[in-house]
Formats: sequence, structure tokens, C-alpha cells
Amino acid sequence: MVDTLPIDITRAKQSRITEVDFSNIPFGRVFSDHMFVADYDGTAWTNLRIVPYQPLQLSPANSALHYGQSVFEGMKAYKNTAGEVVVFRPLDNFHRLNRSAERMCMPPLPEEVFMNGLMELLKLDNQWVPDGENTALYIRPFIFATDNYIGIRASDTYTFMIFTCPVGAYYSEPVRVKIETHYSRATEGGTGAAKAAGNYAASLYPARRAQQQGYHQLVWTDSKTHQYIEESGTMNVMFVIDGKLITTPLSDTILAGITRDSVLTLAREWGYPVEERRIAVSEVIAAAKEGRLQEAFGTGTAATIAQIIQIGHEEQDYMLPPIAERKFSNRVFKALNDIKSGQAEDKWNWVYKL
Ligand code: COI
Repeated sequence: MVDTLPIDITRAKQSRITEVDFSNIPFGRVFSDHMFVADYDGTAWTNLRIVPYQPLQLSPANSALHYGQSVFEGMKAYKNTAGEVVVFRPLDNFHRLNRSAERMCMPPLPEEVFMNGLMELLKLDNQWVPDGENTALYIRPFIFATDNYIGIRASDTYTFMIFTCPVGAYYSEPVRVKIETHYSRATEGGTGAAKAAGNYAASLYPARRAQQQGYHQLVWTDSKTHQYIEESGTMNVMFVIDGKLITTPLSDTILAGITRDSVLTLAREWGYPVEERRIAVSEVIAAAKEGRLQEAFGTGTAATIAQIIQIGHEEQDYMLPPIAERKFSNRVFKALNDIKSGQAEDKWNWVYKL
């Protein structure tokens, strides 16, 4: 914990927690009682406060609404086996939020605003952290521009907020993906490595077309040739081909996933062969045809380890091996859960206790 800044707390008059069916939590639709807010007044982050979760009042001229100057994060809190609330790698999310903010011409957030705001919010709403299988309290920190100005320039003022929602699995079944070879998510020199709101907006139209064809998600390819795998709409992607774990290297078109990093760290620790390199679409398709594509999965905070069961490419669909046969991804899914729940040693200090 870093130096404490004063946070003004206004408690909700009545908790809404009794309205929630914790045995059946949809992703992203149920919000806990409170939210943390801080304002940037042009020179400093001020007015730190926790208030009941409530709608915002914005001017129609709010520049984030028009020009998309907005960045966000996603992380999760869990209950460990001792019943304590823990957060997975929050400082990594903090640093990535500031990298995104820099790319979007926004002021950096001090670590103490992020961490103290988060910790106070979680202490207040700790009853909202579910403990069922595959559940968590999803945490959404975000910063958005608040100048009421219609000219194009970086806003002078901003708001940082954190709200939380108890969640179940993001994907309730193994994922069917389509390799996108026309539209692009990101381009060299663009904003693909930032968790910027607009990146997600731009992905929606191609993703909807794929959903209309029966897929859950796209796998993006490089914007120049469409011959190399990038990432999926909600997660980084990894393949096990001929016993090697292969994923696309980080670049300015790839989001530096924290789950991605955790999986690679565990794989290396286990002595599993890991290759971070460009992956040609043709290599994945050839491996799928020849039965050498043993596993494919996504990694993300919301998605966790999301098994990919089907890959569509150029009007052909390729079915992947049954989930039960996937030794690496099943092992890594369990290992991550064991670290979060306190059942395995946390060698890398990933688990942050309140
Ligand atoms: C996350 O994994 O936290 C994300 O922000 C992705 C979004 C699809 C929920």
C-alpha cells in the first residue's frame, strides 16, 4: 500500500446485494453498491471519493463522447480458500492503464490514487466478491475526458473511476472463432496496444458479421497482409502445435495481456517449449488439417483461459481436439486458479491482499 490520500466516503443507504442471484451471475450486468471517483482539474488529481454506484451527469459536449478519449482496464478480485479477498496483479493493470493514457494523450494517474481507491472500494464492497466456481468480482477502472469542448484537442480535464461487478464466465462454452482477413483491429503506429475505448468500437461491425455466421469472436490478422495472427476481440490467442506453445509477440498492435504474461511465465517455469513469434495463418490451418494443432485458446482477464473449439477461415471450418485432451491449457487454467485461491505458491507475487 502507498501513502494514503484522503478519500471521502458516502455509503449507499441500502445495499442491493440481496437482489443478486449469486448462483447465476451474468457477465457485466450486475454492479456492486459503490464506485470510486477522482477528477483531474488540469494540474492534479483531486476530489477522491467513494459514492453509491449511480449514473453520471455529462454535458452533451463532453469530448470523450465525440472523440473517444477514454481508456480502461479489467482486473479481478477473488476470495481465496481462507475467505480473504485478493486481487490478481493490480499493479500490472495500473501500469498498463498509464501506458494507454499516454498513447491517448491523457495525464498519468498516480499509483496511490489507483491503489488506495481500489483497496478502499474493495473493503467497502467486499461482500460482493463471489466465491463460486469460475466467479470473480470484475473490476473496471477507466479514465475519460471531461472537457465540454467540441474542437479537436486533448481535454484539459478528466475523470478516473472504478466500479465493480460480480461475474461468472465470460464465455459459457468453448469458443468458435473466425480468422478475419478483410477488416483490421490495429495497424503499426496505431493504438492497438492501448486499451482504448475506440479500439473496441471499431471491432464491433466485423465481429457482428462473424456472429451472424455463428462465430463467437474474430481472430484479427495483421493489417498489411492479413497473413499473420494478431489477437482476438476479447483476448490474446495461443496455440499448441507439435507440443510447442506459440503466441504472437507484443508490438504496437497487440494488447500486452496480463493473463498472457502469466501463462507464458508458468509455461517457461514448467520447461514447456514457448515461442513468441509471428504465426502465419497458413501455419495454423495446415496444423489443423494435419491434426498437429493440439490446442488453441484465448487468454484474458474476462475470458480467463477460453478454449477455442472451432476456427473458421475462408469459408472452411476446422474443428479442434476435445477440451478434455488439452493438457497444457487445462493445466495452466488450474495452476492460475490455484495461485489465486492460495492453494499453490505465489512465486511471482501476483496475488495482492487487501
Ligand atoms: C478484459 O478482459 O478485462 C477486457 O477488458 C476485455 C473485455 C472483453 C471485457
